[in-house]
Amino acid sequence: MPRKILVTSALPYANGPTHLGGMTEMVQTDIWVRFQRMRGHHCTYVCADDTHGTPIMLQARSEGISPEQLIARVGAERRRSFAAFHVSFDNYYTTHSPENRHYTELVFRALDAAGHIARRKVTQAYDEQAGMFLPDRYVKGTCPRCGTPDQYGDSCEACGATYAPSELRDPVSVLSGTRPVERESEHLFFRLGDFEPMLREWTRSGTLHEAVANKLDEWFEAGLKDWDVSRDAPYFGFEIPGAPGKYFYVWLDAPIGYMASFANLCARTGLDFDEYWRPGGDTELHHFIGKDILYFHSLFWPATLEGAGFRKPTGVHVHGFLTVNGQKMSKSRGTFITAQRYLEHLPPEYFRYFIAAKIGPGVDDIDMNLEEFATRVNAEIVGKLVNIASRCAPFIARAHGGRLATGLPEPELYAEFSAAGARIAAMYEAREYSSAVREIMALADRANQYIDQRKPWLLARDPARAGEVQAVATQGLNLFRVLMAWLKPVMPEMAARAERFLGTGEASWTSVAQPLLGTVIQPYEPLATRVDPKQVSALVEALAPAAPSPAPAPQEPQVGPVTIEDFSRLDLRVARILDAETVEGADKLLKLTVDAGQGARTVFAGIRQAYRDPTVLVGRQVVLLANLKPRKMRFGVSEGMVLAAGPGGAEIFLVSPDAGAAPGMQVK
Ligand code: 2FM
Ligand code: ZN
Repeated sequence: MPRKILVTSALPYANGPTHLGGMTEMVQTDIWVRFQRMRGHHCTYVCADDTHGTPIMLQARSEGISPEQLIARVGAERRRSFAAFHVSFDNYYTTHSPENRHYTELVFRALDAAGHIARRKVTQAYDEQAGMFLPDRYVKGTCPRCGTPDQYGDSCEACGATYAPSELRDPVSVLSGTRPVERESEHLFFRLGDFEPMLREWTRSGTLHEAVANKLDEWFEAGLKDWDVSRDAPYFGFEIPGAPGKYFYVWLDAPIGYMASFANLCARTGLDFDEYWRPGGDTELHHFIGKDILYFHSLFWPATLEGAGFRKPTGVHVHGFLTVNGQKMSKSRGTFITAQRYLEHLPPEYFRYFIAAKIGPGVDDIDMNLEEFATRVNAEIVGKLVNIASRCAPFIARAHGGRLATGLPEPELYAEFSAAGARIAAMYEAREYSSAVREIMALADRANQYIDQRKPWLLARDPARAGEVQAVATQGLNLFRVLMAWLKPVMPEMAARAERFLGTGEASWTSVAQPLLGTVIQPYEPLATRVDPKQVSALVEALAPAAPSPAPAPQEPQVGPVTIEDFSRLDLRVARILDAETVEGADKLLKLTVDAGQGARTVFAGIRQAYRDPTVLVGRQVVLLANLKPRKMRFGVSEGMVLAAGPGGAEIFLVSPDAGAAPGMQVK
């Protein structure tokens, strides 16, 4: 039975260029969508620009244009970029639409009527010069905890403290530079706590990856708080009916944008809106999102849907962030790669392949190491996959006028390839793309081995063995055809070119069950070409800030001589790492559980970029500064420090004692 599946990617804010981080999510989603379609399911993929809110309003203002002009310009760029990367939306719409206004009002009215909206006064920072209330990020000042200046109104980047803007010392508005005043205003709140029993059940009903569901437990423990869904004018968004001068907060209408985009598609195509959004139907609803917006999608969104009488999502699939060469994408570090910039240097399908080869169903970050990128493209796409076709095609063209043999010399080998489709499909379904790619590349190795063993180039010297040559090349091309079908969700354009070369129709998941025999193929044209690693590194080099000149000479740390007494104050001990795990919300940290002879203790170490897979650390012995004063961090208390060498980032090396040392031994 074909499934009816509605799929979304998170709606990108309409105020900046599309970058490879955003593209990663679109590619992850699109692979799943294309896979479902190949399986014969009815899969609809919608998205939109997320157009409302203060930042978009202010950006338009600073450019001297209207928000509508800004979102039109960004929307056009987004559509071009997504199309260039072969993202196959059925509809890419905007949240600033009549449909979205309609559904946002409808949802709000339903929630209000059912008693899920509370009204109460709040006091907030107000900029008298700019004439507006200030979101937390628009107030800066000195951290009330550690005294670091120039911190945002919600949290301190230096010590990790979180607080209200009113707690900042010497606060200023980032808009006018003036000191904000406190002002009262009535706000509307969604009573999230009304939905706690439903949410507890929903999060454990297979909708979320286990690690994500565990994260939610922490939020349940902390208690579900009312959610402020209104903002005061001036604001770019939808005015709340019956509350003049108040607007729906962008995060209320953004996910409703999924519905609105779908409704807009329904009006054009005859798809049935209610079939997909009423509770209890047999359609599916899947959202792909980044880990930073989990709270909105796993708590607010299902609760909103339930409260307004709509169905809840079947799955919320959460991914990590894309890093470039181990670094967070950042403009100042030169690792902020826009989609357009990438396209100036490289083909879009290489990016799709690389993401597929790296991404799994979990929330780990994905590192786009540029050396690895070039190696994978050259060794895997060109060296393994396309190589099969380019080696075999000439033998069919030359002596046989492009006609394939009428039988396969090794039908069992073909059957093995075709049977792998079931395993690979299960991997795609579970979003285990990296496993699927690994499996496909292992099969590509097998196909190349087959050609190496049969050596058609030697056989071709003997005219009497022409039939054998044709058969071997036919076998090779058939194996290639199967692999290209399995990779079609990832590289749809290359797969389409392979289909034209082989003279087949569009592949579905089952169309390669039978081999292609006795038909005529087209002249072979290269399906992929190697990349020069320099071409890949140029993606960031041209962006990197100019090196300071002259380059400063490496410096010795500026510390004076220490006495042996100074040194003896440090309690350095051999410790064994009992456990190592990533820390949600901290890109650079690993949480280590270590034993320095006195039982387990926790140490947060800034080594994550060097040890992407923390499990490799388990069991390893390190040197611990055991009497470091415990430090309270946002994620817990750190009780010591492990010693490591190197400049930082990915280049950090843990210091370990020789074999024979045991936990608790003093290091001196
Ligand atoms: O975080 C973001 O980029 C938001 N624009 C995502 C919105 S997703 C959905 F809820 F609309
Ligand atoms: Zn601080």
